[in-house]
Amino acid sequence: MSSALDRLIKPHGGELVDRTGPRPDGVESLETVAISSRELADLDMIASGALSPLNGFMGRNEYESVLESMRLPNALPWSLPVCLAVDEAPKADRVALAGEDGRLYAVLDVTEVFDYDVEREAELCYRTTDGAHPGVARLFTQKPRYLAGEVTVFERQTPLFPELALDPAATRAAFAERGWRRVVGFQTRNPIHRAHEYLTKVALEIVDGLLIHPLVGDTKSDDIPSSVRVDCYRKLIEGYYPPDRVVLSAFPAAMRYAGPREAIWHAICRKNFGCSHFIVGRDHAGVGNYYGTYDAQLIFDEFAPHELDIEPMMFEHSFWCRRCGSMASTKSCPHGAEDRVMLSGTKVREMLAAGEEPPIEFTRREVADVLIEAYRR
Ligand code: ADX
Repeated sequence: MSSALDRLIKPHGGELVDRTGPRPDGVESLETVAISSRELADLDMIASGALSPLNGFMGRNEYESVLESMRLPNALPWSLPVCLAVDEAPKADRVALAGEDGRLYAVLDVTEVFDYDVEREAELCYRTTDGAHPGVARLFTQKPRYLAGEVTVFERQTPLFPELALDPAATRAAFAERGWRRVVGFQTRNPIHRAHEYLTKVALEIVDGLLIHPLVGDTKSDDIPSSVRVDCYRKLIEGYYPPDRVVLSAFPAAMRYAGPREAIWHAICRKNFGCSHFIVGRDHAGVGNYYGTYDAQLIFDEFAPHELDIEPMMFEHSFWCRRCGSMASTKSCPHGAEDRVMLSGTKVREMLAAGEEPPIEFTRREVADVLIEAYRR
């Protein structure tokens, strides 16, 4: 098994970080810092090594370097800040981190507290300072200073889907057990439609295995809830994928909607989970019209070949073509727009709300049934 594990891609920075540890004596009497659900998701990912090589919340040096150059101070690529926002500096050098449920999850050894400029972070990370952008809106309501330091997590966040909660070490073990070496990761925050199925299957033709890795952390309120989406993923995999070629697991991160920078971040995280390849389609992690259709692909050119190590698999906007009688994209289909079945997310939501099944060229019947049932409730 160890040689099968060794054949997988190395974690980002070389080693899988493990910031879990026993509950320290006297933790209840430490000064407490309250963290949001989004910060708790980041904390849990630091603990499991999903954010390797990070071993805590970023200090000013790392933050500045990430904002300005999309790299950590040691030049390793890293595209988004992972910071903990507070109102004021704690008095103690060691604090306990408490979730919104009041439970203590971790201790943080304080290295610094620093001010930051929300507008600048918004512009550099999200390419906009428009408060209507959901990621920017969240940033604008954040507390005004960042608290930095290494963490030791003694209480793991309760997973939403315990049977799908696989840490990077566990996905790596699952891949090694199946004898996979080249594994493609698929990020999604939406129900799985025919286009998603097409991308994952085209990718699967080239590599050994597929990790369907839906994001289950915080999303914006009009995205379909993860409980419904997970039923859709299960139905589709059951009916349409060879079971020995797919691992379904939950990606515990919160959604940033940072488009291009988030695509890089998503890829780096999936590298930690053991993926050698990562799917980037149209407007990856985008929202509204803030990003160009292929901006999240173009940003990969800002890194030297092999600098990220994980290989992006880029896909054009794909659709069902009635004349081809198959899924396709403009790269592979010569027919016109009139032959293509393409529906916007808004249109699909309207159809589902009206109890109407979207066409099977867009969504498999089994998936549509799950969605309609969820809308009915
Ligand atoms: S995302 O926020 O997680 O990117 P979504 O779940 O819709 O949203 O997309 C998952 C992945 O599939 C992303 O890489 C996205 O670019 C890609 N994708 C979604 N729909 C299409 C499509 N019709 N054609 C090509 N790529 C697509």
